[in-house]
Amino acid sequence: MDHLVSPSLLAADFGRLDKDITMVNRSVADWLHLDIMDGVFVPNITFGFPVLKYVNKLSEKPLDVHLMIVDPDRYLERFRDAGASILTVHYEACRHLNRTVTEIRRLGMKAGVSLNPHTPVSVLEWVLPYLDMVLIMTVNPGYGGQEFIGNSYERISALKKMITASGNDVMIQVDGGVDTTNAKKLVDSGVNVLVAGSSVFGSDDPEGTIRKLKELS
Ligand code: DX5
Ligand code: ZN
Repeated sequence: MDHLVSPSLLAADFGRLDKDITMVNRSVADWLHLDIMDGVFVPNITFGFPVLKYVNKLSEKPLDVHLMIVDPDRYLERFRDAGASILTVHYEACRHLNRTVTEIRRLGMKAGVSLNPHTPVSVLEWVLPYLDMVLIMTVNPGYGGQEFIGNSYERISALKKMITASGNDVMIQVDGGVDTTNAKKLVDSGVNVLVAGSSVFGSDDPEGTIRKLKELS
C-alpha cells in the first residue's frame, strides 16, 4: 500500500480554518488529522465538538481524530457523530483497551491506539487483532512544532516486526516533527501514515509540501 498523508490542523490558522481546510481538500492529502487535548492527559487544551462538526462540514477528507484525553470511553459515540472516521486513543489513557477499541469499531470507525515515546510497543501485542492502526508518537504529545525524537525509527521497526509476525493488517502512523527531510526514512522504516502539522501549515507552499510528503521527492 502507498503511504498516506494526514496534515494536522493544529498548526492551521484558526481565524481562517475554512481557508486551510479548502487547501487540504484541494491537495493530495489522504486524511485530515485533528488533535483533541483535554489539559489533563496532556498539558494543553485544543478544541471540542462544535469545532469538529464545523471542520467535518467543510472537509472532503476523512477525519483522523487523535484523542489526547483521559477516559475516552465517555465520548466515543459523540466523536463518531461529529464526523470521525478514524478514532485514535492513547494506550496510557485507557483502563480497558480491548473494550475501548472494540467499541470504536462497533460504532463504525477505524480504531487506532497511540503510544507515547516512552511506552514499549510490546504492550500492544495482544490487542493487534482488534486494531486498524498504531500511532507512534515521535514527540511528547501536547504541542505542535517540537523536535522529532531520534530513537523513533527503532520503535517503528520493532512495531513493524511485531505486526508482521502477528499476521494482522495494522497501519503504522507517526506524529510529531515529521517533515520533508525525514518522511522518506520513516516510510522506508515501515510507516503507512505521515502526520505533519507545522511543516505543512508553516511552509510557504502548504499544498506543495503535502505533495512532497506524498511523493517523497
Ligand atoms: C502533538 C499532536 C500533533 C501535532 C504535530 O501532540 O499530536 O498532531 O499537531 O505537530 P508537528 O507536525 O508540528 O510536530
Ligand atoms: Zn496528533
